[in-house]
Amino acid sequence: MTAGSTDRTLIGTSVLAARELISPVLADGGIGLIRRGGPEDADSIRAFVCALSPRSQYFRFFASVAPPSTALLRALCGVTGSADILILTDSGNAVIGHAMAADALAADGRLETNIGLVIGDEWQGRGLGTTLLDMLVRRAARRGVRALVLDVLPANDRMRGIIARRWPDAPAERTRDALVIRPPIGPAAAGYPVTLPAIIGLPPDRAARNAATHAGGSRAPAA
Ligand SMILES: CC(C)(COP(=O)(O)OP(=O)(O)OC[C@H]1O[C@@H](n2cnc3c(N)ncnc32)[C@H](O)[C@@H]1OP(=O)(O)O)[C@@H](O)C(=O)NCCC(=O)NCCS
Repeated sequence: MTAGSTDRTLIGTSVLAARELISPVLADGGIGLIRRGGPEDADSIRAFVCALSPRSQYFRFFASVAPPSTALLRALCGVTGSADILILTDSGNAVIGHAMAADALAADGRLETNIGLVIGDEWQGRGLGTTLLDMLVRRAARRGVRALVLDVLPANDRMRGIIARRWPDAPAERTRDALVIRPPIGPAAAGYPVTLPAIIGLPPDRAARNAATHAGGSRAPAA
């Protein structure tokens, strides 16, 4: 597969209503799946983390984490705590994205949730990360969560842009390492749209940006 080709482009979604899951439809005819993750996904999640570039590991975990420690793997599988875990698999059932929301009571008594997500390098910039984020937000609102907590490294322009475009007025504080951004979400976010027009097809400018981003030795997606 050549860099920037669109045969893995997300061209639409179909909602599996009964399970509230979303099945991303890819332009190669493959159908991925976004579903709850759990302990049974440990091996696949470990393989996914090990394949992440150092940059993606750093942006997500603030450290090099491959191979993941037992404690990290347990957290990513939702074994520890009570996080909402979503995983995205490709049509070959390999994990290509992971997102989690861990709820906690804030000092003011509100329920807030700490969000973490990462998309496999060769799949980034195709609308998948924002789809997972939108799903996490909607599910969190349904649980009564009233604020998100996003720890973002200052150099992570992509994630900062995603947050700023969605929640331009969200309060942010700078810690030693990161920006901690706390977008409030209201009950209306429970109906937050997941099937966004922006993820239907790959706009030419994003395709060009993908080509530039993935040129020069990135791995092609597994078939
Ligand atoms: C951040 C991340 C989760 C986003 O997922 P993604 O699938 O790449 O993002 P999407 O394609 O859904 O959305 C891309 C957004 O970034 C913008 N974007 C796309 N390519 C970009 C690029 N090369 N540079 C900057 N912005 C870009 C798009 O305009 C879009 O923003 P919009 O929806 O507000 O218009 C993903 O890139 C990733 O895993 N990065 C490494 C780990 C990480 O940073 N995790 C977040 C920790 S808080």
